Amino acid sequence: MKRVLVTGGAGFLGSFLCEKLLAAGNEVIALDNYFCGNKKNIGHLLNNPRFEAIRHDVTQPIHLEVDDIYNFACPASPIHYQHNPVHTTKTCVMGAINMLELARNVNAKIIQASTSEVYGDPLVHPQTEEYFGNVNTIGPRSCYDEGKRVAETLFFDYHQQYGVEIKIIRIFNTYGPRMSINDGRVVSNFIVQALRGEDITIYGKGDQTRSFCYVDDLIEGIVNFMEEPSAKGPINLGNPCEFTILELAEKVLKLTESKSKIIFSPLPQNDPMQRQPVIEKAQKLIGFSPKVELEEGLKKTIEYFRSTL
Ligand SMILES: NC(=O)c1ccc[n+]([C@@H]2O[C@H](COP(=O)([O-])OP(=O)(O)OC[C@H]3O[C@@H](n4cnc5c(N)ncnc54)[C@H](O)[C@@H]3O)[C@@H](O)[C@H]2O)c1
Repeated sequence: MKRVLVTGGAGFLGSFLCEKLLAAGNEVIALDNYFCGNKKNIGHLLNNPRFEAIRHDVTQPIHLEVDDIYNFACPASPIHYQHNPVHTTKTCVMGAINMLELARNVNAKIIQASTSEVYGDPLVHPQTEEYFGNVNTIGPRSCYDEGKRVAETLFFDYHQQYGVEIKIIRIFNTYGPRMSINDGRVVSNFIVQALRGEDITIYGKGDQTRSFCYVDDLIEGIVNFMEEPSAKGPINLGNPCEFTILELAEKVLKLTESKSKIIFSPLPQNDPMQRQPVIEKAQKLIGFSPKVELEEGLKKTIEYFRSTL
């Protein structure tokens, strides 16, 4: 049994990680400042004697005796990370430093939740880990994209300079139950609009593509990578099946049996046209192979939103 810290533990991905790590017999500490997380996401875990929740902001140092750290604290949707961009950069950069210092002090292994956004609006398609990216340093998405890039740099520098055992995963669009209702991410947006009978808003013509990974597949990949002894990454984790945004909207309409209409709005600045991971590295290292098909994952997510709304 290990003692594991999950920062961002009350968020969408963090709460599923806490569940998975508890089920494997570990002690789990969920740390969160509840900026965009929800206590309900971990409410069902609070009676477990191996689980603790701590309110804390990762921009401040903390000392905890832990064996493993999953650094997931960071607002992930544009609506949330653009609300206070300075704090988003601080969360990425100072959060990484504080968690790496903690790892260094207590000799813990640490994994960073990085993102496909480090590739920016990619000029290479699909994206392998070797691609350096095409990121605007001064746009509205920069606090997140550049913050996450600096975090990756810090992880490798702490490894090289201080010997900290590090791992980095670059997560591509992931969806599932417990996403926030109003954080503007495309899957939750479309489902909520369809269930409420509101128009479904597509930004641009809807021909931009995304690959969508169901949360269970991603969490399995993260935990397996953490346990892989020598691998540091960065590795891409996501589902390579690519869909246009219009196809996604049509699937959501079909599965919710909604009468909502599809409407089109201007594309936001620096919104990438294409996003698809190459996951060969993860496949070779940990046998990563997402299993949940989009329709099956959407059905489970729709069920969750139906019960929440
Ligand atoms: N979901 C995805 O598709 C996706 C894709 C790429 C990367 N990621 C990364 O995975 C991580 C989790 O994403 P998510 O989808 O679960 O997002 P989320 O917004 O649901 O969860 C993030 C959690 O971090 C907490 N948090 C934010 N700033 C904090 C701070 N300064 N101190 C402490 N807690 C803080 C929030 O309250 C929230 O509970 C993020 O780091 C995100 O960048 C997610």
